[in-house]
Amino acid sequence: MKKIAIIGSNGQLGQDLVRHLRRNHEVLPFTRNDVDITSRQSVEKIFALYDFDILITTAAFHKTDECEINPEMSFLVNSIGTKYLSENAKKYDKKLFYISTDYVFDGLTQEPYTETSMPNPINIYGISKLAGEKIVRNYLGDNGYIIRVSSLFGKAVSTNKQTNFVYTMLKLAQTNPELKVISDIRMSPTYTVDAASYIEKIISKGMVGGIFHGSNQGDCSWYEFAKTIFEIIDYDVAVLPFSHKEFLTVARSPLNSSLSTKYSELASPHWKDGLKRFLQEIQIE
Ligand SMILES: NC(=O)c1ccc[n+]([C@@H]2O[C@H](COP(=O)([O-])OP(=O)(O)OC[C@H]3O[C@@H](n4cnc5c(N)ncnc54)[C@H](OP(=O)(O)O)[C@@H]3O)[C@@H](O)[C@H]2O)c1
Repeated sequence: MKKIAIIGSNGQLGQDLVRHLRRNHEVLPFTRNDVDITSRQSVEKIFALYDFDILITTAAFHKTDECEINPEMSFLVNSIGTKYLSENAKKYDKKLFYISTDYVFDGLTQEPYTETSMPNPINIYGISKLAGEKIVRNYLGDNGYIIRVSSLFGKAVSTNKQTNFVYTMLKLAQTNPELKVISDIRMSPTYTVDAASYIEKIISKGMVGGIFHGSNQGDCSWYEFAKTIFEIIDYDVAVLPFSHKEFLTVARSPLNSSLSTKYSELASPHWKDGLKRFLQEIQIE
């Protein structure tokens, strides 16, 4: 049994990490009220006051358009905050798990990206998260764990009321007979319960640090994802494909950010399996 501190414990992934890891470990959940990773003093206090073996941080500034508009905040949270965590983890000899993103890739390939693929981010969010990754590995070496996830969906809704794609589709379908959804961007949808389980396996197997792709298996376009949601719940709504070129955003998105993991012993179920369980969890099916 390990003592595991979790920063961002009330976030979408954080809540499932707390629930899942509590089964076999002692968990110390921290919210932004307990520690603000953009404050060096606040981070130092957590390391000085609490005893733990592993720190997992889900904290991020991750709305891609807002990152583009406010790059200072993006780098402050995703990179500098991660530096404060990394230097203290090194000083106190702790393992650090940094949750990262598929957006470190440029999306110019047709194949899923593995842990050995070369990152090349195309927006501020991706650049600031990649900087966070490099900082973790640079300070901590084998005690630094980069867990890349993508397109998360989970039951919890973080305190800033952000929601996920599945909730958005279900809500829109209540008032719209047809939904236009982007069909030319691909990714690997990931159930937060499965991402939490993937992380737990890394811990229980005592694996050394490095880069890990913790998404569900398989990939799809947002259009296919939306269609599958309504097929599973047998809900009658027309889902129509449309191009990302018609959808104005400040940040560019990679056209393909599908992930796969080279660690077959860790691999999560297919995303459709995760989606079915999620819809059962929120009692839609
Ligand atoms: N969501 C996705 O689709 C997605 C895709 C790929 C990668 N990721 C990565 O996965 C991780 C988790 O995502 P999520 O969807 O669970 O996000 P989330 O629901 O927004 O959770 C993030 C958590 O971090 C906390 N936080 C933010 N800034 C902080 C700070 N300065 N100090 C301390 N805590 C802070 C938030 O607190 P408040 O609630 O108080 O803001 C929240 O509890 C992030 O690192 C993100 O980059 C997410």
